[in-house]
Amino acid sequence: MSEVGRTFGVTLATSTVLTFTACGIQQPSREADVAFSGTALFARGQQVYDAYCLACHQRSGAGVPGAFPPLAATPILEDRIALIRATLFGRPGTAMPSHCNFDAGDIAAVLTYVRNAWIGTPKESISTKDVLLVSADPGSPLCQPTYKR
Ligand code: HEC
Repeated sequence: MSEVGRTFGVTLATSTVLTFTACGIQQPSREADVAFSGTALFARGQQVYDAYCLACHQRSGAGVPGAFPPLAATPILEDRIALIRATLFGRPGTAMPSHCNFDAGDIAAVLTYVRNAWIGTPKESISTKDVLLVSADPGSPLCQPTYKR
């Protein structure tokens, strides 16, 4: 595990978010397959997705080959920390923007949407608390937002 992952694991060990570990996520349950698709969190996430992600990652989540990677059914969806971190801090030197100045609730919502909008992805929510933990982690990059808010 990277230095960053270790630091984060220590932070988590003392937190009350028992289901969120640096070393893996819970196995998605069968019932959870449709658990979020009708919820307010999902709807809010779709609004954020449409405004800030759709142009590159597309309605289908398939991205644009050679330009923008797919989000549907990709391994990073299984790693909550990597997923939150990529969305919060972007990928410097690529087109992937940083959203570190967004409301943590909007990030939680958009990632819950991303994890539940298409088949082949783990069907669990990302909470505001998950997002705040990653953004406050001392191993996380500095916030260099792409958008003015
Ligand atoms: C301007 C185009 C663009 C927009 C807008 C955009 N992305 Fe990306 N995204 C990219 C590119 C390009 C990459 C690949 C970066 C790289 O090469 O590491 C990427 C990578 C990612 C990754 C990592 C994928 C992986 O498998 O490692 C995630 C997660 C992601 N984007 C989520 C989002 C979310 C969520 C939003 C909206 C809040 C968003 N992106 C908006 C272009 C974009």
